Amino acid sequence: MNQSLQLLRTTGAVIRGRRCAALLAAVVLRGPAALRAAGPGAIQFARDIRPILAENCLACHGPDPGARKAGLRLDTREGLFEPTARRPATVMPGDPSRSALWKRIVTEDPDDLMPPPESHKKLEPEQKRLIEQWILAGAPGRDTGLS
Ligand code: HEC
Repeated sequence: MNQSLQLLRTTGAVIRGRRCAALLAAVVLRGPAALRAAGPGAIQFARDIRPILAENCLACHGPDPGARKAGLRLDTREGLFEPTARRPATVMPGDPSRSALWKRIVTEDPDDLMPPPESHKKLEPEQKRLIEQWILAGAPGRDTGLS
C-alpha cells in the first residue's frame, strides 16, 4: 500500500479512537444518558417523555381536578419540578433515585406502583428506560409545552 495513504488511515483510526474514548468516558462518568444527551437524537421532553405521561399518568395526575389523585399534576412544570409542603419535587433532574416519578414506576411494591396495577396501564421497559435517561440527562426541555 502507498505509504501516505497508510499514514492517513492510521491517523484517522487514532482520531476515531480518541473520540470513542471521550464518549466512553462520558458514558462511564454520567451514565448511558450521555449517549443520548450528546447526539442529535438527544432525548426531548415534548417528543419522548410527554406522550408517555399523557398516555399513562394524566388520567389521574392531569388537568381534571375531579379525577386528580394525591393532588399531583404531571402536566405542569410546577407539578413535576417544584416541591410542596407535603413532598419533595417529583422529578429531581440528574437524580432518578431521588425522583418519586422514577421510583414509583420501578418499585416492586404493587401498593406503590404507578400506574396502579388496577388501572390496567403498564409502562414498557423502553418507556421506563427513556424516563430514566431523561432524568439522568438533567430533564432537558423541561419547559417545553408545560404551563
Ligand atoms: C388510575 C389512576 C392513576 C394513574 C393512571 C397514575 N396514578 Fe400516580 N397516584 C394515584 C393515586 C391514587 C395516588 C395516591 C396513592 C399513592 O400514593 O400510591 C398516586 C400517587 C402518585 C405519586 C406520589 C404522590 C405523592 O404526593 O406522594 C406519584 C409520584 C405518582 N402517583 C406518579 C405517577 C406516574 C408517574 C404515573 C404514570 C406513569 C401515575 N402516577 C399514574 C393514581 C394514579
